[in-house]
Amino acid sequence: MRTPPKLVLSAVLMIGVAFGGLAVDSVRSTPAQALNNGLVRTPPMGFNDWNAFGCDVSEQLIKQTADSFVSSGLKAAGYQYVNIDDCWMTHSRDPQTGRLVPDPAKFPDGIDGTADYVHSLGLKLGIYEDAGTATCAGYPGSLGHETVDAQTFADWGVDYLKYDNCNNAGSTTTQQYIDRYSAMRDALAATGRPIVYSICEWGVNSPWLWAPSVGNLWRTTGDISDGWNSLKSIIRENLPLYPYAGAGAFNDPDMLEIGNGGMTDTEYRTHFAVWSMFAAPLLIGSDLRQATPATMNILLNKDIIAIDQDPLSKQAKPISDSNGHVVLAKPLQGGDVAVALYNESDTAARISTTVGAAGLPKATAYRQKDLWTGTSTETAGTISAVVPPHGTAIYRLSKDSKWANLPPSADLSVTLPGAAATGSQPVVNPNTPVDVQTALTDNGRAPLISAAVTLTAPAGWTVTVKSSPIGVAIQSGKPFKSQWTIAPPAGAGPGSYQVSASAVYNWTGGSWQTITTTTAFVVAKPPPSGVSYLSDLDWLSASNDWGPVEKDRSNGETGAADGHTITINGVTYAKGLGTNAPAEIDYYLDGRCSTVSTDVGIDDEKNGSPANATFIIYADGTEVANSGAMTAADPAKHLSGSLAGAQVLRLVADDNGSPDSDHTDWAGAQITC
Ligand code: GLA
Repeated sequence: MRTPPKLVLSAVLMIGVAFGGLAVDSVRSTPAQALNNGLVRTPPMGFNDWNAFGCDVSEQLIKQTADSFVSSGLKAAGYQYVNIDDCWMTHSRDPQTGRLVPDPAKFPDGIDGTADYVHSLGLKLGIYEDAGTATCAGYPGSLGHETVDAQTFADWGVDYLKYDNCNNAGSTTTQQYIDRYSAMRDALAATGRPIVYSICEWGVNSPWLWAPSVGNLWRTTGDISDGWNSLKSIIRENLPLYPYAGAGAFNDPDMLEIGNGGMTDTEYRTHFAVWSMFAAPLLIGSDLRQATPATMNILLNKDIIAIDQDPLSKQAKPISDSNGHVVLAKPLQGGDVAVALYNESDTAARISTTVGAAGLPKATAYRQKDLWTGTSTETAGTISAVVPPHGTAIYRLSKDSKWANLPPSADLSVTLPGAAATGSQPVVNPNTPVDVQTALTDNGRAPLISAAVTLTAPAGWTVTVKSSPIGVAIQSGKPFKSQWTIAPPAGAGPGSYQVSASAVYNWTGGSWQTITTTTAFVVAKPPPSGVSYLSDLDWLSASNDWGPVEKDRSNGETGAADGHTITINGVTYAKGLGTNAPAEIDYYLDGRCSTVSTDVGIDDEKNGSPANATFIIYADGTEVANSGAMTAADPAKHLSGSLAGAQVLRLVADDNGSPDSDHTDWAGAQITC
């Protein structure tokens, strides 16, 4: 055992453990070099049990999963590592050898027996440990036991180690992190067995800055969960990390949730496409023994796997990003480029970029392969699609001298130009016909010939064509626009509706093409004439930091109707809205209202707390009143503003950067219409 270098000695003493075989000096001198173990030159692909099973791991599960790799075609598609997560061992080490002991009930044949089986199928086995005194689930950790644990894993035939960060003996600094993770790196190297090393410190100490020379991959973020908000925020956090990924050293945005049931197939497709653009590990996190065809279709998409596994091993760069419309470009071996159009927003959107922005060299036209449908078109340079909310279009762009054999690429958009804009779906009045515009755009070199556009409104609605939907020859880059009106049946109820457009067209190659786009919109009730309390009206949307927005009571934080009578500095109000900043509520006005007026303040139930918030009122995005920062000690302020002509009223309670349980009351809030 070598003496730890001076700098880390205090950290070692503090955590009271001894390190074996440290080589942190080399870490410091070569911070940007990829870990030189020759493994995973492209991102690892496989399975990990944690997302679907938590602590319910077993030999049977691992063996059955390995079987399904073979029978379902996953192995043939490149999935290789079958990984065991936390909870595989007993609560104490072997008193004689100091080795970790597999739970005999869960792993009757031990990890070595399980590994033998997995290896017999031509697959590899992964395991989990922790750079702390205990794993996250409380089993013995490896801190101070790196040498014996690495040797144990090697003896068992383990091929991959995920190394976690719980119970890390109070380590906080980057150097302490480097030391803990390097100790296991060196212990693994000393065994002589090739073992992929996956660092799991959740992005705490910016691992992308130091982990490339320590591990093969590093978690960049906290644990993923099976829901859209989790997926969305992890994608956001990983967008800027593209410079740090390379062969053998990858950013790890966490394991896949595809197939676990908490997201739509559109969202799961985004998960898979964006992970592949990120050159992220593709570790399946659902129960493969019960996978649906929809799940397998996503996981087995060979064209998208090829983007993830491209030998250049580059992570896609965001080349544009506005209003939740993100374009990613990933250079591929041989000069192709993968382009993803990711719609983070809640409304269908036309997202576009160009081959130039994506980094392709100049050419007359390019092959654009849609990796979800497998079909190829030619583009003159624009890459564009109407992408559903939370969806991702993904293409492979290539220079191709035979582009003229391919149909021109096109996109079709549907917009409701007269509808109120709230930042989410378009909003219309139930009693008024709605204008709709379709635009068919040829992004190819060759024209679209004999195009016909049709529009389908919700059942019971009438569709009227106001300008010709027939385009004889649509030229590249010149959108063919048609105007329509859709009218609701009498008494159409408030709610969410869909309108869809289809275009059929031919091209010089002579085969008919079809393209369909669907857009959702909201029918909202206009407010009644006269003075109304907002708490007596239906809102379009409401978001709140804790619990639901309350009507005629303060925010009680969790369930509905758990607040109290609205009270600001001893003054009580029978009517009003109880929110918890940050909060945002939208009301539909239909251009019929003149004023909004309300008292605002932090409810007396937060007296003595650090609550601090600002109340802001917007009419169609224009600020019409602002309270300035208020604390629980302030008396109510009166806010009023003009709503003349506005379609949408928005009330915002801003937490001023600290969501410290701000019970923000809109006391006696009313509008005059
Ligand atoms: C941490 C990791 C997870 C999982 C659990 C197991 O939370 O980030 O991926 O390994 O521990 O306890």
